[in-house]
Amino acid sequence: MSDATILSVRDMRVHFQVKAKSRLPWAPSRTLKAVDGVSFDLRAGETLGVVGESGCGKSTLSRAILNLIPATHGEIVWMGATLTQASAREWHAVRADVQMIFQDPLASLDPRMTIGQIIAEPLMEHRPGMSRKDIDARVRAMMAKVGLREQMINRYPHEFSGGQCQRIGIARALIVEPKLVICDEPVSALDVSIQAQIVNLLKALQAEMKLSLIFIAHDLAVVRHISDRVMVMYLGRVMELADKHALYDTPRHPYTRALLSAVPVPAPSIERGKVVQILSGDIPSPMNPPAGCVFHTRCPMAEARCSQEVPELRALDQGSSAACFFA
Ligand SMILES: Nc1ncnc2c1ncn2[C@@H]1O[C@H](COP(=O)(O)OP(=O)(O)O)[C@@H](O)[C@H]1O
Ligand code: SF4
Ligand SMILES: [Mg+2]
Repeated sequence: MSDATILSVRDMRVHFQVKAKSRLPWAPSRTLKAVDGVSFDLRAGETLGVVGESGCGKSTLSRAILNLIPATHGEIVWMGATLTQASAREWHAVRADVQMIFQDPLASLDPRMTIGQIIAEPLMEHRPGMSRKDIDARVRAMMAKVGLREQMINRYPHEFSGGQCQRIGIARALIVEPKLVICDEPVSALDVSIQAQIVNLLKALQAEMKLSLIFIAHDLAVVRHISDRVMVMYLGRVMELADKHALYDTPRHPYTRALLSAVPVPAPSIERGKVVQILSGDIPSPMNPPAGCVFHTRCPMAEARCSQEVPELRALDQGSSAACFFA
């Protein structure tokens, strides 16, 4: 893994104006802070796992990185260039280098196109000079790489299983040889038995193609195998960002510990020192987040200070950082 940073996200905020549920046209809109001050760096060839319960802003963050949703605030630096004021043409170039894989494999594939056409589409868009013959050869080679038989090239998405559809989505994302792939819960909709196959495929392709990955999931067990570092999000904010081994062996933030205790983790060091902290209660609404530390309403360690002051994400030892006064 190289140390060169390919992506920096600085104080990213994505706030939505949401109309109150009222039929009165003058009803005021309220601000929903889906992403609220997220910063991280991604190195070339690295996999960053992003984890948090549903609704904590993972998808919004990934779409804002690609400018598919406008950010309210913040800066994105891609390969050394700041994209804040980038033109449509510059974004087009970035989108060839940064591809996405989505959660619902079937829904993300156009049902009227054959899988050959689906996989070829990004090539037609980003490599307009390429001949039909070369495109066809690239598509067939990519299909083989993701474990799809060549004879399937003229079939339609509905003829495939969920796992196969995700292989098609992966082939489509990788065909333009991107530098970064953002995988938004790529295995959450799949059977557990298929999940490991897809994670292993992504890991193998990442090594072969020297990709960087952002791999989003809602639980820590899924990202463990594939990640180099893991970022834990809660209500649009980063609670902990750490090297994989540090995060699973010595989690520093109470939310990370709660997530770890909610899933079976085959790590003896955790089992021994494990404090049983199953998350209680629902995640609060991002429309009305708790004051102070956003996690304080569910935190077993919360003290008076936690409901008044916001803990900043601060660097700890072992390259970990956590947003908790007592981490
Ligand atoms: N376009 C939108 N308008 C208003 N609220 C939105 C929009 N998109 C997402 N949200 C809200 O933002 C929050 C974060 O959503 P999301 O990024 O999808 O979370 P996650 O991917 O972690 O489940 C949720 O409360 C969601 O309802
Ligand atoms: S700052 Fe307080 S409420 Fe927040 S995680 Fe730490 S102990 Fe819990
Ligand atoms: Mg999501």
